Amino acid sequence: MKAITYTASAFVLAGHTLDAQDCPGYTASQVTQNGHGFAADLTIAGANCQAFGNDIADLALEVGYQTKERLNVRIYPKDIAPANSSWFILPPHLVDQPEWDGKTTANSSDLKFEWSNDPTFQFRVLRASNNEELFSTYGHVIVYEDQFLELVTNMVEDYSIYGLAENIHDFRLGNNYTQTFYAVDAGNSIDRNVYGVIPFYQETRYHNGLDTTSHGVYARNAHGQEWLMRENTITYRTLGGSFDLYFLSGQSGNGGSSALTTIAQFQTGCIGTPAMQMYWTFGFHQARWGYENISINQAVVEGYRDANIPLECFWNDLDIYDLYRDFTNNNVTFPLPEFTQWIEELHANGQHYVPIIDSNIYVSNPNNASDTYAPYENGKNLQTFIRDPTTGDFYFGDNWPGFSVWGDWLIPSTQEWWTNEIVTWYKGTPFDGIWIDLSEAASFCAGSCGNGRLTENPIHPPFLLPGDPLTFDFNYPEGFNISNATEAASAAAASASQSSALSASPILPAATTTTQGRTEPTPGVRNLNYPPYVINNVQAGHALGKSSIEPNATHNDQYNTTEYEMHNLFGLQISNATYHALLEVFPGRRPFTVGRSVFAGSGKTTSHWGGDNTSTWGSMFLSISQAFTMMMSGIPMFGADTCGFARNTDYQLCSRWMELSAFFPFYRNHNVKATIGQEAYRWSSVAESSRRAMAVRYSMLTYMYTLFYYAHTKGETVMRALAWEFPSDSTLRETFNQFLLGPSILVTPVLVPNADTVQGVFPGIGEGERWYDWYTLAEVKAQPHENVTMSAPLEHINVHVRGGSILALQQPKLTTRDTRNTPYSLLVALDDNGQAKGSLYLDDGESLEPNATRLVQFSYSDNCLEFSSEGQYHASQPLSNITITGLAGSVNSTGCYPRRNGGWAHHGGPQHSSMHYGGKNCDTGGFQTSYSNGVLKVSGMDKYTKDGAFQENLKLCFEW
Ligand code: GLC
Repeated sequence: MKAITYTASAFVLAGHTLDAQDCPGYTASQVTQNGHGFAADLTIAGANCQAFGNDIADLALEVGYQTKERLNVRIYPKDIAPANSSWFILPPHLVDQPEWDGKTTANSSDLKFEWSNDPTFQFRVLRASNNEELFSTYGHVIVYEDQFLELVTNMVEDYSIYGLAENIHDFRLGNNYTQTFYAVDAGNSIDRNVYGVIPFYQETRYHNGLDTTSHGVYARNAHGQEWLMRENTITYRTLGGSFDLYFLSGQSGNGGSSALTTIAQFQTGCIGTPAMQMYWTFGFHQARWGYENISINQAVVEGYRDANIPLECFWNDLDIYDLYRDFTNNNVTFPLPEFTQWIEELHANGQHYVPIIDSNIYVSNPNNASDTYAPYENGKNLQTFIRDPTTGDFYFGDNWPGFSVWGDWLIPSTQEWWTNEIVTWYKGTPFDGIWIDLSEAASFCAGSCGNGRLTENPIHPPFLLPGDPLTFDFNYPEGFNISNATEAASAAAASASQSSALSASPILPAATTTTQGRTEPTPGVRNLNYPPYVINNVQAGHALGKSSIEPNATHNDQYNTTEYEMHNLFGLQISNATYHALLEVFPGRRPFTVGRSVFAGSGKTTSHWGGDNTSTWGSMFLSISQAFTMMMSGIPMFGADTCGFARNTDYQLCSRWMELSAFFPFYRNHNVKATIGQEAYRWSSVAESSRRAMAVRYSMLTYMYTLFYYAHTKGETVMRALAWEFPSDSTLRETFNQFLLGPSILVTPVLVPNADTVQGVFPGIGEGERWYDWYTLAEVKAQPHENVTMSAPLEHINVHVRGGSILALQQPKLTTRDTRNTPYSLLVALDDNGQAKGSLYLDDGESLEPNATRLVQFSYSDNCLEFSSEGQYHASQPLSNITITGLAGSVNSTGCYPRRNGGWAHHGGPQHSSMHYGGKNCDTGGFQTSYSNGVLKVSGMDKYTKDGAFQENLKLCFEW
């Protein structure tokens, strides 16, 4: 292999508006077909342009029909020098690289690839069945430089694309929006780059009321990048790597395509389906920065207990640590063994405990013998940290504890070190999962700023920490000045006086910013810290090294790979490492890690919270679209900091948010220090809202768990946009003020202050859909597309059940353990044809590979409820009730509904393989039934299912 050569800039760009589309493009030649696609050479079609890097003259093109529904286009430098290979090629061991299934050919593919050299190489991807153009670079050149790649696709008019997580933006991305990708520690910056990078979008096309179609595009590239959505095009730019594009047809067996199928294809075929989570993790979690000692922890746990609000898991932030150092325990505030005992008491009560681990590791002060910090010394002995290329020493950035280093996940010793620290720490802090923070990876200074200054450690971060003097946050949510006028006025006065006190005597110097513009590409050199193309990084000056490990920091692998390539993968890697460490702590048990920075594929090992949002109504609203993108990205265990992280919440916002998040998979209230407390028991209204919403959630925990089973096994989504479930309704294409949990539960939250009603739609009405109020089981009466105004007092969240669904429910208790031990009931919500179906997945709730599982499929038709149950798992709780809603009113007068104490006849002996209610086979056994307004309730069935609700297949017919 020959090394890549760089040629000097062919023309001077100074003074011009740079448009990489002025570059010459490439010409394809040497086409060689193989069984499943073809390969070709791409040669630069003119002089190098040096737009934002040094042009690579010779490229390789590979087009592969990988599976029926997936087409891959790879373009990468033809002659990759081994020493530089990591510049361009993202190794499959870091991020899954989908390959050919060994059988698909161009003829059997859903997709078709076309290309032309006229005037330069351009390609398009079509849907084979109808030649619909899905992606097309026609009319645009491909730009491939060492620090800049660009490709433009033509888009249909008024296109609807979704995804490109992570963003804090509307659900439908729109065609005047730029999504920048560079993992960053900058809160929930709206419309900018945030913590995660998942370069996948799904496009829906509504064909004027005819069949809606969907396809997807995944660009497997981990570099800093941008997606520029413009009126009729999307421009994709990255700071390096290769084009490794995956086109997904979205088609299923019947040839039709849909968003849900496209998303499933992305997960099952490209990045891997999400990890199955432990059952208890679906309980409610309480965290806060500022739980400063064991007594405060205890008071919070008791606060929940006394208020009768479920609390499944208690979380500590970095308050537990000694001087902010990972894996320590503050001897004064969290002394051992008292703290260990406190955690064990939680466990005895069926509760759980999760602490934070920050991504940085404090560096011991070399001049202070008493400052020896074992996790650093252990890592140093193994040389496991990222390096500063200018000194060859470790890269010494800055974080909470002072000058810090970061694990280099590219070498095996780092896993060994990390596992050892976690296993050791567990002995005193017997946690149930780990919260990984600041994994972008964030550093509070620019560059290896601790170099030569380690003797100053521990230094204070270069900004005031919440809780430092003069840092109380006086901000309140929108509408607070109306609902709490007096308090709002005094907060404004206190805020003004705090600001003037702070400006009179600044405690720390003002923060400096780093700015840069385009740097000139230099032949033979890559400018890693200031690449020629400046992505719109949210940090001041857009500098890549601001608040993060600088791009030129190096790893210890054979290529000395730099952070320039690895930056967006740090979060993925530290979460993976933590996952593996947890497997050592709990062999065979599903690891629970919640990480802040994620990449495509993170969901296989980690969950994610939305990061530092604010206690505002806007932030709450945007958590729904953020959640949708995570559902698309295979990270369904997602939730936002409920009631808001930064700023003060108020009783209204916190009530509404506790209600809303009860329908997010990961349900955690979390709050910054130096604000008012926001635990659910602090206000009577929030307490009541929480109890009610949690009662709904805990009743349907098995439903949530079953949704996860299908997410894990089939890439199905857990929370769903209305547009996904009702693809033919184009009026739903932007909707995210309502959402579905799985296919069956519709949630309509209140998202504005000072409201006691809410508006929402009931999709499909008029076309065979029916909806029932969760609480009353009454059927919704609405016109097609009507925006229905519903009553929504502060403590109430509107939840509706979709006709055609069967849900297995249990009785809500204060923990998931206790809930799981209650009898089952079934809710059958009939569709227009008097039918319904549903399923239930059961296992021990925690084993990575459970030795017994059970999958029950329910169906209801022709007045018979049937379930077929497969597997060995024994759920010992009986089935006590069945409720059927949506029965025709006329039956009431002519049928036997009004019968009380109707009986059952069993056919098939003790297995109860068949039961008939009513009619000639009734016995008078002790059932209670009641019927009114289309709802039949049958209770008292326990004695017939004593061996466990779903041990046998069952058919239950109602004869009237
Ligand atoms: C980061 C986290 C936040 C945490 C804080 C202190 O801002 O995102 O959740 O509370 O650090 O550890």
